[in-house]
Amino acid sequence: MSVREIKPVKEGKVREIYDNGESLIMVATDRISCFDVILKNEVTKKGAVLTQMSKFWFDMTEDILPNHMISVDVRDMPEYFRQDKFNGNSMLCKKLEMLPVECIVRGYITGSGWASYQKTGKVCGIQLLEGLKESDKLPEPVYTPSTKAEIGDHDENISYAESVEYLEKRFPGKGEEYASKLRDYSLTLYKKCAEYALSRGIIIADTKFEFGLDEKGNIVIGDEMLTPDSSRFWPAEGYEPGHGQPSFDKQFARDWLKANTEHDWTLPQEIVDKTIEKYLQAYKLLTGKELV
Ligand SMILES: Nc1ncnc2c1ncn2[C@@H]1O[C@H](COP(=O)(O)OP(=O)(O)O)[C@@H](O)[C@H]1O
Ligand SMILES: [Mg+2]
Repeated sequence: MSVREIKPVKEGKVREIYDNGESLIMVATDRISCFDVILKNEVTKKGAVLTQMSKFWFDMTEDILPNHMISVDVRDMPEYFRQDKFNGNSMLCKKLEMLPVECIVRGYITGSGWASYQKTGKVCGIQLLEGLKESDKLPEPVYTPSTKAEIGDHDENISYAESVEYLEKRFPGKGEEYASKLRDYSLTLYKKCAEYALSRGIIIADTKFEFGLDEKGNIVIGDEMLTPDSSRFWPAEGYEPGHGQPSFDKQFARDWLKANTEHDWTLPQEIVDKTIEKYLQAYKLLTGKELV
């Protein structure tokens, strides 16, 4: 008997999304991108690490709000997914009507936030205290939403007030309610999970959440959650403000690419192996378990 092949409805740099009627299947592949380019190597198990990590956080935060996860067991998915390449890295999810705001929380000052603070003392319009050094921990995490751009456009940072207006246009009468819930959920999730991660040796410097509405109009968290692809993970060991921090997972890959300028986006196997180790280590540190 032949199994019907299912084609992804969306193929991103790293993830593939399959439509399954009332549900979606999100597959995290073993592809890795550095400096916005997909490398030619695959990082074996990276996809499984990312999917299982999202599962871990969805389970841990169920008491805060519902999430879109239905199952990570391919036996709950159409037969096509019962292949090795989908095992462990696929998540069956409830289909949501996504709210078109990327909900970013920053607990530390880095990246574009650091660049903007140096120029204006502000990050996304929020005034921060003076004298912060690069990578410093902020006294309180800040919520800096951005619009979710159409394909090809860049996401644009917006203020909280603009997020109210933006949502109000799409959902008349609901702008304030949705915007405030997204902000409050984002900060609550970040605080709980970053504190936990820190106790396990990982700093989550910043992250991006996405939320949607279920059939009853409840706000549900979707997408991936607190993975190194949607967040900046830094090793807590050796953390020192005053300069940039190494990336927990991609540090070997980035360092090698920078040191070997003639490359064609292919890493030596030794660097791939070290990178795999970092993903497995992040999973073990956070969950206390080996990836099975
Ligand atoms: N439960 C869900 N229901 C519907 N769409 C979802 C759900 N979870 C995530 N999404 C959407 O799936 C898409 C995943 O695509 P992704 O590979 O991250 O590319 P991009 O972020 O560039 O759109 C995003 O548009 C995200 O908003
Ligand atoms: Mg995305």
